[in-house]
Amino acid sequence: MKATAIAHPNIALVKYWGKRDEKLILPHQSSLSVTLGPLAVTTTVEFTGQKGPDQIEINGKVAEGGERKRVEEALKLVRLEAGAKKKLGAARMVSRGDFPASAGLASSAAAFAALSVAARSAAGFGRDTKAESILARRGSGSASRSIEGGFVRWNRGKRADGKDSFAEQLFDERHWPELRLLVGMVSREEKEVKSRDGMRSTVETSPYYPAWAKDAEREVKEIVRFIKRRDLEAVGEIAERNAWRMHATALGANPPLCYLKPATLEVIEACRQLRKQGVGVWFTLDAGPNPVLLTSATDEARAVALVKAHGASEVVQCRPGGDARLV
Ligand code: DP6
Repeated sequence: MKATAIAHPNIALVKYWGKRDEKLILPHQSSLSVTLGPLAVTTTVEFTGQKGPDQIEINGKVAEGGERKRVEEALKLVRLEAGAKKKLGAARMVSRGDFPASAGLASSAAAFAALSVAARSAAGFGRDTKAESILARRGSGSASRSIEGGFVRWNRGKRADGKDSFAEQLFDERHWPELRLLVGMVSREEKEVKSRDGMRSTVETSPYYPAWAKDAEREVKEIVRFIKRRDLEAVGEIAERNAWRMHATALGANPPLCYLKPATLEVIEACRQLRKQGVGVWFTLDAGPNPVLLTSATDEARAVALVKAHGASEVVQCRPGGDARLV
């Protein structure tokens, strides 16, 4: 009743922003991401068969508060699925990420994906990417997209119970090995409004929200065609436009949500200038100030130099990563 799993984070090229069901974590629109290697989170889950509270350790510390609650919820769902007869009992979970929280990438996506694979396996279930994606989604929406590697689409789904809202791989990580994703750290400050709260406020108060949701659904379809052809220019243009539109709908919230810093805009402007010189580099932005650049292996060095020249203290260099897996 013990298993260990590894999962990678992901970066969305068409973002998930807004829930239609807060409890089940069901999105208003589909989204699409690239799984990022080599960064990874490793999680071990053991069901002890004993009564008592779950023991939860994340990055060397006992988990508390909201973080603890979210993990407990996920473990509870596994016990429920396994049924009372199995007597899984309390769990011991230890999770560790090999990238600093300061990398600017939400480690929660990789963490809930690894937890989902490890916990289901510890409970005796065979691998089932759909069930794992649905369980990971209940921890954090974007985690549903970290079960599989390469290019992954989280389908919105229509059902009220969420059984058709899970992510699936469209192309594996070998489809586009020369793609590079560079996280430029222009700020290490903790953001004031977390994604969860920011997206809720946007759904409730931004007059632009319905337009965002409709447009993003269409952009998912559009970008898939270009990923298939490995057309970096077309993929980069859609990713940039989609990031701007997500930030535009958030800016339209009340109170307005601005996740950008002056340095973010500097990097974006520098990207544009570099493109004029024939360097293939585009950006995307999550709900934070750190841009993620999309480029190719050929232009990687110039793109790294660009972000460093504009105040990035560090650049985390990634490429398409693989599936979450048991070890
Ligand atoms: C801007 O998945 O962290 O990174 O479902 O509330 O846990 P919850 O939110 P989360 O939100 C991610 C938002 C985003 C875009 C994306 O990854 O698609």
